[in-house]
Amino acid sequence: MRSHYCASVNETMSGQSVSVCGWVHNRRDHGGVIFLDIRDRSGLVQVVYEPELADIFVVAEKLRHEFVVSVKGIVRPRPEGMINDKMATGRIEIVGQELEILNQSLTPPFLPDDHQLINEDLRYTYRYLDLRRSKMQNNLILRHHMNRCIREYLNAQGFIDIETPMLTKATPEGARDYLVPSRVHPGQFYALPQSPQLFKQILMMSGFDKYYQIVRCFRDEDLRADRQPEFTQLDLEMSFINEDTIEQLIEGMLQKVFREILDVELPTNLPRMTYSEAMRRFGSDKPDLRIPLELVDVADLVKGCDFNVFASAAENPEGRVVALKLPNGCSLSRKELDDYGNFVGIYGAKGLAYIKVNDRDQGLQGLQSPIIKFLSETSVNAILDRVDAKTGDVIFFGAGHEQLVNESMGALRVKLGHDCKLVESGWRLLWVVDWPMFEIDAKTKQLQAMHHPFTSPKELSIDSLKQNPTKTLARAYDIVINGYEIGGGSIRIHRPELQQAVFDLLGINEEEAKEKFGFLLGALEHGCPPHGGIALGIDRLAMLLTNSDSIRDVIAFPKTQSASCLLTSAPSSVNSVQLNELGIRLASTTQTK
Ligand code: AMO
Ligand code: AMP
Repeated sequence: MRSHYCASVNETMSGQSVSVCGWVHNRRDHGGVIFLDIRDRSGLVQVVYEPELADIFVVAEKLRHEFVVSVKGIVRPRPEGMINDKMATGRIEIVGQELEILNQSLTPPFLPDDHQLINEDLRYTYRYLDLRRSKMQNNLILRHHMNRCIREYLNAQGFIDIETPMLTKATPEGARDYLVPSRVHPGQFYALPQSPQLFKQILMMSGFDKYYQIVRCFRDEDLRADRQPEFTQLDLEMSFINEDTIEQLIEGMLQKVFREILDVELPTNLPRMTYSEAMRRFGSDKPDLRIPLELVDVADLVKGCDFNVFASAAENPEGRVVALKLPNGCSLSRKELDDYGNFVGIYGAKGLAYIKVNDRDQGLQGLQSPIIKFLSETSVNAILDRVDAKTGDVIFFGAGHEQLVNESMGALRVKLGHDCKLVESGWRLLWVVDWPMFEIDAKTKQLQAMHHPFTSPKELSIDSLKQNPTKTLARAYDIVINGYEIGGGSIRIHRPELQQAVFDLLGINEEEAKEKFGFLLGALEHGCPPHGGIALGIDRLAMLLTNSDSIRDVIAFPKTQSASCLLTSAPSSVNSVQLNELGIRLASTTQTK
C-alpha cells in the first residue's frame, strides 16, 4: 500500500513516483489547488492536487481532519518561495495522482497539533488521538530505544531475561497490594507483584547468577506526577557481588543510554553521598544537585536565645534549626516572602523566619528581620559568617522537628531554585548510600524497613543489630538523577537466621514469617549465594530523557490521579454472576450492574 513513510520523502527522489499512507493533518484550498499535509509516525509530507484531475479533486474536496488516506504521486522540489525549512520535508511536495480514502473520521475533539492546550481528561478519554501528537509519538519511540539500549547492554554482559509471575503472593515494598480473587479457591486472593523482589532472589538461589527483566509492578499508593499504580521497572539481580559491582554496572548502562539516546556523555565514577549527608545538606534523600542552595545547621548558634521556637528546637535531640541562604534574595517582596511562608506551611512548618541582608557593612542596622530582636549580636554575626552572607542575600530559617524541617526546607530549597532560575543545566547523578536499616512508623511507632526487609544490614552481628536497630546502616543504595529517585537496591540477607532476626525486629514472628515468606526462608536454607541487585524506574528514566513533566507522558495508557483509565473506564463494576463465581458479596454501599 505504501512505498515510503511520509517524512522519508526527500529531494533526491524528485521525479520518482511514491505512495504514502496516513492521516489528513491539514487541508488547504488555494485558488483551486488543494494542499494536504499527510501524517504518519515519521512526520508530515505535503501533497498537492491540481484541479485538472477532476475525479480526484472531487475526492480531495471531501477530505477532513484525520481522514485516513492512501496517496500516490510524483515527488517534486517545491517552487522557490514555497520552501518551508521548519518542516523536515519542507523542500519537496508530492504532486498527487491517486487518492483513496481508506477511512473517514468524525470531527475530532482536538487536533494532534502540539501547540494546542488540551484538557487532561479529554486527552486520556481520546488517548488514541492524543497519542497521534508528535510529542507523544516521539516519547514512546524514545522509550522503546531506551529499553532496547538497556537490553543490549545487559545481554552483552551475560544477563538472562527471565519472567516472573504476575499472579503471586504479596511482596512487601511499602505500598498496598492489588488483589485478584481466585475462582478455584474461593475466599483466597493472589496479589499482583509490587516488585519481583522475592522471585529474583530465588532465581539467585537457583543458580542463574545474573538476571534481569523489564517488568510491570503494581502498587496501590497515593499517585503523583512520578508515580502510577502500575509502572515498569528494570529489575536485576546478581550473585557473588558487592555494592561496587552493581554501581559500576548501572553507571555503564546509564552512560550508554545517555550517549545513544541524548548524545550526552555522563561522567564516570558518580559521586556517592551518605543518606545522612544528603538529609543534612539538602533535607532530602534524593537531592537535586543542580540547585546551588544548601541547608546549614545553626542550632548551636541559637541555643538559649529569646526566640522560643528556635531555642526549644535547638535543645531537642530530635529537633533541627537550619539556615538557607538565597543569594540576592533581598529583591523578594513582602508578599513573596509571605508566600514562601505559606509554602512551607503545606509541610506543617509553623513559620518561615528570615533575615534580609540589606547592607552587611552596617552590622545589625543593615539587617531587616522579624527575629533579630530575639538574638544576640554575636549570634547573628556568627550565623551570617557561617552562611557567608553578602549584601543583598536573604537567609531563611526553619526550626522544629528534624523531619518536618527537612521536608519543608528541602522543598523550599527546590522551589527557590526553580522560582529564582538557579537550576543549572545538565545532568547531576549521584548514589545515595548508607541508608538506615529501619525507620520508626509515625503512627504505629513500629520499626519498618527503610528499603525492604530482605536488605542486608552492614552490621552482621544479630546481637548488636537487635540492641541498636535504628542506628544500624543498610547495604542499600539509590541512584538519583536531577532530584528524582530513579532506582534503588541493596545487597541482600543470605543467612536465614539474620533474615529471621530482621523479621523479629519488624514484628513478624516466626509463624507469620513462615506463612508469608516460608518459601524464601526455605530457599535460604538450601545453599544461597551472597547476592544483591537493583530496580530502576523505567517510566521515570523515560520522563527525564524526554524532558516530560509527568510519567503519564511516557506511558501509552496511563491512569489518572484517581487510578482510573478514562479510555476504557477501568475500574468498573462486574456482574453478579462473576461475583458469585468468585464467592464475593459486595457491601451494600457498593453497587453492581
Ligand atoms: P523500589 O521500591 O525503590 O525498589 O523501586 C525501584 C524504582 O521503581 C520506581 N518506582 C515507581 N515508578 C513509578 N510509579 C511508582 N508507583 C513507583 N514506585 C517505584 C522508582 C524506584 O526507584 N525490589 C526493590 C528493588 C531492589 O531492591 O532491587 C524495589 O522495588 O524509580
Ligand atoms: P512569631 O513570633 O510567631 O510571629 O514568629 C516570628 C518569625 O519567626 C516569623 O517570621 C515566623 O514566620 C517565624 N517562625 C515561626 N515559627 C517558625 C519555625 N518553626 N521555623 C522558622 N521560622 C518560624
